[in-house]
Amino acid sequence: MVRLRKNEQQTLLTIAHLGGKAKVSQIVTTSNLSHAAVMRAALTLSKEKLLQIHEQKQTIAWLTKEGEIYEKNGLPERCLIESLNSLGGKAKIDKTVKNARLEGQRVPIALGWLRIKGWATIERKENTLTALKKPQIGIDEEVMALIARADKGRIVVEELEKKERGAIATLRKRKLLAVEEKILRTLEISLHGQKLLKKGVAPDEEVSQLTPELIVSKKWRTKKLRKFNVTAPGAPIYPGKIHPLQQIIERARKIFLEMGFTEIRGPLVETAFWNFDALFQPQDHPAREMHDTFYLSVPKAGQLPNKKVVDAVTKTHENGWTTGSKGWGYPWSAAEGRRLVLRTHTTAETIKYLSAQQKPPIKVFSVDRVYRNEQLTYKNTAEFHQIEGIVMDKGATLRDLMGTLKTFYERFGLETVQFWPSYFPYTEPSAQAMVYVPKLHHWIELCGMGMFRPEVLAPMDIKHPVLAWGGGLDRLAMVELGLDDIRLLHGNRLGWIRRTPACQ
Ligand code: PHE
Repeated sequence: MVRLRKNEQQTLLTIAHLGGKAKVSQIVTTSNLSHAAVMRAALTLSKEKLLQIHEQKQTIAWLTKEGEIYEKNGLPERCLIESLNSLGGKAKIDKTVKNARLEGQRVPIALGWLRIKGWATIERKENTLTALKKPQIGIDEEVMALIARADKGRIVVEELEKKERGAIATLRKRKLLAVEEKILRTLEISLHGQKLLKKGVAPDEEVSQLTPELIVSKKWRTKKLRKFNVTAPGAPIYPGKIHPLQQIIERARKIFLEMGFTEIRGPLVETAFWNFDALFQPQDHPAREMHDTFYLSVPKAGQLPNKKVVDAVTKTHENGWTTGSKGWGYPWSAAEGRRLVLRTHTTAETIKYLSAQQKPPIKVFSVDRVYRNEQLTYKNTAEFHQIEGIVMDKGATLRDLMGTLKTFYERFGLETVQFWPSYFPYTEPSAQAMVYVPKLHHWIELCGMGMFRPEVLAPMDIKHPVLAWGGGLDRLAMVELGLDDIRLLHGNRLGWIRRTPACQ
């Protein structure tokens, strides 16, 4: 004999009252039960074969902001053809556009659609438009009007005719419509359920909470305690949480701190002196060119450090100074060094720090933002994060550097790290740390690394070897979070942020 809980009985009776079959939303409003309660009851009832759950995919469509404006004022091509007709059916493009009050991007869009819809021809040479046939109200315009008039401005695409559904696809491409897929659930009482209802169902009085009264009065012995189904789906909740990228930043910080490093931070705007010159990058170095570095226009220039340091850097660039190097052999310009840039790497901060701190041992790191004028793609953004660190100590070697990085990345969960030879103007030897990502079947670069050259150390009066490394954090985050588009990290797409677990 089946025993029903109160909610289950109520759900079943409500469906019977609604004719034996009803949408979940209807049951919720009629019964006053919550959506989650009805769904929970439905799952149990369907397990007991008392009802069936039918699921149907539904596409809901509504007008975007732009779509709403066009719905009110007419599609741009409609405005254009009306303007053309008011000018007598043949006119210069510019004049027609102006008369239609179209601007910017809407102009080419309107012209394109005018042609596709066959409302007018465009004579490019003469720059004129000629109206062709009478511009009938199109199915796209009809659908837009239909949606605007629909309840809450939303329609179910599946309920439309084929032609109208075609228009929906076009309007979506034009970004005038947005859609969302939903699952519509209908509950239907089975034969078995109907029989049970005929016999009459009495709810099982269950206690879902054990109260002190029940215990003291010993009533709990006779009451039936409700079992909890801990695997039943509940309503999703979206509590506040730390952004996934910030979580990874915190993890990198924690690992460095545990390894005995101290965090340093510096300004986003630096002089070219610290970003480039102090790192022995010649002033005509390709990385400085406009396409890589963002230079500030206001204010244009900052201050150079004390004369002793500037003189030493000047000489090192010009002739190698006391470093044994020949330098780059060009006249160093202080004006170029003063120019302000959005720092292109956090190495600007480590060298600046070292210029003021010379007592070994030094172990510092930073996890911070840097900027490069990169085209925005799935793998590049103009603003990104770098993890940077240095160790300065008596007798420190490249081997120590590799060990330090291996430990860091291992703690991050990256086991297969290799060091490949590389080049940086400020380190010798130089290498790059690579990690194998099985999922991608290839190696990706984690960071650049090396030992600062004498040309970097001498002008800052640094007497001991310096191990340095720096690399992108966002790429690491992509691997960790399984992303194939870096833009997700910065786009604040709520859906993605919600789906990404609070604990990785
Ligand atoms: N600054 C380098 C970059 O941005 C990385 C690097 C740091 C290389 C320190 C060597 C030493 O790519």
